[in-house]
Amino acid sequence: MSTETLPSQNQAMLEEVGDLFAESGFGLPEVFGVAPGRVNVIGEHIDYNGGLVLPAAIDRWVNVAIRRRDDHLVRLVSAQAPGEVVEFSVNEDLAPEGKSWGNYVKGVITGLKAAGFEVPGFEAAVISTVPVGGGLSSSAALEAVFGKVILTLIGAEMDSLELAKLCQKAEHDFAGVPCGLMDQAAVILCEEGKLLMLDCVDDSFQHAPFDDPDWGLLIINSCVSHELSDGGYAVRRDGCHAAARILGVGTLREIEPANVEEVLENAKLTEDMRRYVRHAVTEIARTQETVEALGLRDYYRAGKLLNASHVSLRDDYRVSCPELDFISELAQSQEGVAGCRMTGGGFGGSAIALVRRDSVGSLTSLIEQRYRAEFGIDPKIFETRPMGGTRAWKA
Ligand code: GLA
Repeated sequence: MSTETLPSQNQAMLEEVGDLFAESGFGLPEVFGVAPGRVNVIGEHIDYNGGLVLPAAIDRWVNVAIRRRDDHLVRLVSAQAPGEVVEFSVNEDLAPEGKSWGNYVKGVITGLKAAGFEVPGFEAAVISTVPVGGGLSSSAALEAVFGKVILTLIGAEMDSLELAKLCQKAEHDFAGVPCGLMDQAAVILCEEGKLLMLDCVDDSFQHAPFDDPDWGLLIINSCVSHELSDGGYAVRRDGCHAAARILGVGTLREIEPANVEEVLENAKLTEDMRRYVRHAVTEIARTQETVEALGLRDYYRAGKLLNASHVSLRDDYRVSCPELDFISELAQSQEGVAGCRMTGGGFGGSAIALVRRDSVGSLTSLIEQRYRAEFGIDPKIFETRPMGGTRAWKA
């Protein structure tokens, strides 16, 4: 594959990752790979409830250079952890250690071995521009890019959806986050200029164009983060699944939005479960409506649905935080903004605004100024177009 189709930011990053590889004493890379972060436009916390989700790959990337070794050793370096070398043998039964970023790589190797691939030792260097803890799936990008570069290194291929599932399992088993499939599917399956419509009832997917030159996606990273693995995520996921069992449905997708209040009268549901079910059922409906609105280029209608999603995540699902509430409310009140909401797992991370591109500059300065005044933190704000997904190629 040629690198010409990569965004220009990436060309420079690939040179840097090649330099880091050489400086680490690894010689010349055999394979390069890149994986984007992702942002979810709408459809939050419903990938594990049989819902439809609508993510896009963003212009932030994990870049990797890799070379096979003759023994079974893996040696990893990252520009984000200067001076540290993560080292282990592929022959061992791998297990996660502490919070090391190498755990994600171990998880992917374990998955590839379980799928019957012979994984050799290798050396790899990583440079990432996907902010960690920003709710933009830096870990899914790391998993996906290692899946692809290892497969390319050994001259093997794997179905993209299967690879996404393998990476999801790595996240479950090696990072302790019982996530749905959205993040790994998005970073692998997304296409340039398009949103991914992933239907989590059967993992079928389609691509919907998002290429209006007048409208963009603005990502506002609050720069506060609360770990997803601290239990808040798992509690909600388990609560939704327990509620589905009580209500006698396979997933919450089966509940008709028009009937939700009636269904919630079931005495066996706890108060928390009622709020989770209300969020999931209404969010599934909002996502379907957003797909329709965007198809008609009715951005203001889509934006209203984004705003309603934020309220539901804040009040019913309770995964927002004061910083994300502040950003969303401020953005929503501005000219040229169709809608704004927290995005991703929550508990910090980023908000996404659907915004007219001629308003991006003024909106960015306003949020920077007001957010800093309110919280004493500099947010990180950038516009993105939907990008292509993970790829790897021989050097
Ligand atoms: C995290 C998980 C995803 C999804 C989102 C919430 O990003 O990894 O599977 O559940 O939270 O929509």
